[in-house]
Amino acid sequence: MSVERIATYIDGFDKALGGGVPKGHVVLVCGTPGTMKTSLTFSILYNNVKNNGSKGLFIALEEGHDSLKGAMEDLGMKNIDELELYVLDVAKIRMEHKEEELTKNWIEILTKYIEQRVRESNFDMVAIDSLAALYSLAQLTNPRRDLFHFFGFLRGLGATTFLISEIPMGSDRLVAYQEDFLSDGILYLRQYEVGETDVQLRIRCVKMRRTDHERGYFTLMKSDEHFMVTSAITE
Ligand SMILES: Nc1ncnc2c1ncn2[C@@H]1O[C@H](COP(=O)(O)OP(=O)(O)OP(=O)(O)O)[C@@H](O)[C@H]1O
Ligand SMILES: [Mg+2]
Repeated sequence: MSVERIATYIDGFDKALGGGVPKGHVVLVCGTPGTMKTSLTFSILYNNVKNNGSKGLFIALEEGHDSLKGAMEDLGMKNIDELELYVLDVAKIRMEHKEEELTKNWIEILTKYIEQRVRESNFDMVAIDSLAALYSLAQLTNPRRDLFHFFGFLRGLGATTFLISEIPMGSDRLVAYQEDFLSDGILYLRQYEVGETDVQLRIRCVKMRRTDHERGYFTLMKSDEHFMVTSAITE
């Protein structure tokens, strides 16, 4: 049975993914600092909302709404406020929740919030930036159990979910706990040194359930309007 997919609108990469990300998947977007995890994920939501009437919820735990929006506008994503792309930041979450609720585990708060918003507003796509920020707010008592339930909850939503995951420089681990096994897909971003002086941004699909995808690295570039990939040729 073929699955419905959502396009990433990264030129050349959808083909490598066999058309895109299967709808309803929980996908990790992993990368070291400055590898455009936020920009790339935001652009996936932005382009789907803009081009096919999807609705997106971007939960920004790393930076405020205005700063994020400014950066995305600099990258050519215009009129964000006029689209069905809702950016929620920590300040807004705090405003919408009573004091006593904020002493609770943030995973519980977000779970409740996301469930309610996806039900009421029919969001097709949800992004959380980032898992590290969520963990620092969440005080996980039993990370493996808590994350197992959280991923199960996300998968049950029906929306396609992108979780941004930060990899420290020099680490050979993609994630903090077992998110790589819990997720349906993993996109991996890294900076790759070419020769003595150049550094390229590269992307690869590490896993994507229900998909016959390519596994190799692509060079990731940004033009005025959108992201694109070309095949990375290693010397
Ligand atoms: N206007 C721009 N045009 C092209 N590239 C840009 C522009 N502004 C920033 N960048 C590049 O994008 C990078 C930041 O992108 P982004 O914030 O999406 O990365 P990130 O992986 O989410 O970073 P972090 O680890 O800080 O969360 C910058 O370090 C810079 O290299
Ligand atoms: Mg970021």
